[in-house]
Amino acid sequence: MKRQGYKKIKIRGGVTLALIRNKHNNQLKRNIITKHQPKSPISEQYRTIRTNIEFSSLDEDIRTMMITSAGPGEGKSTTTANLAVVFAQQGKRVLLIDADLRKPTVQYTFNVLNTRGLANVISQQTVLTDAVQESEVENLFILTSGPIPPNPSEMLGSKAMDRVIEEATTLFDIVIFDTPPLLAVTDAQILSNKCDGTVLVTQSKKTEKEQLLKAKELLQSAKGKILGVVLNKMNMKKLNDYYYYGS
Ligand SMILES: Nc1ncnc2c1ncn2[C@@H]1O[C@H](COP(=O)(O)OP(=O)(O)O)[C@@H](O)[C@H]1O
Ligand SMILES: [Mg+2]
Repeated sequence: MKRQGYKKIKIRGGVTLALIRNKHNNQLKRNIITKHQPKSPISEQYRTIRTNIEFSSLDEDIRTMMITSAGPGEGKSTTTANLAVVFAQQGKRVLLIDADLRKPTVQYTFNVLNTRGLANVISQQTVLTDAVQESEVENLFILTSGPIPPNPSEMLGSKAMDRVIEEATTLFDIVIFDTPPLLAVTDAQILSNKCDGTVLVTQSKKTEKEQLLKAKELLQSAKGKILGVVLNKMNMKKLNDYYYYGS
């Protein structure tokens, strides 16, 4: 393979990543408000969430964090992408991992390839440093899902997954996971046990109180540490073309 297509980036501990050069175009399928409009009130809300996360755990540093919700379509991926951006904007080296091995979307949000990713790294077809891609946001790196595997829960629960997390935390300051919904499959529960903290997204009105309580119970039974709840899609007046809210 021609090395021209690669770009070398130094990360922690003198490790160099040979990143695939992405032909970015500005026509992103999903806009990330914190990237495109960092000064907007909505972006400010995401920074508030970041601050709250940082203060939610004073004794131990949050190095691995996941975002989940009770059901689908509540804004897990949107919240994950925006939080990853605001942590990166703070100067932290962030790795965003798409651990939604059933309905991955990170490749669309960041307009990167998904030929190899987490599933390939777990199954040892490739090494982490070869699968990580750069994003257009400084300090933000992406590990997409890779091809959809037949056994996502098993993969996420494996020892190999533990090793991926361990390596990722030695290379990056913070590792943020996008996940499937809690009530649908066990994946998020499994992962919550391996992460320092979990952020629960809930869609105002849509998420029934019972579903939210059930989600909370599932996290607690997996010994996941709930850092906080993000109330998403609040019914506010249109602020701009993005309609992205977080509070
Ligand atoms: N705060 C919000 N305001 C408006 N639309 C939103 C908001 N958050 C998410 N969306 C939209 O809702 C849809 C589902 O969001 P997504 O983040 O993919 O949810 P999930 O990952 O939980 O399935 C997407 O089309 C997304 O653009
Ligand atoms: Mg999603």
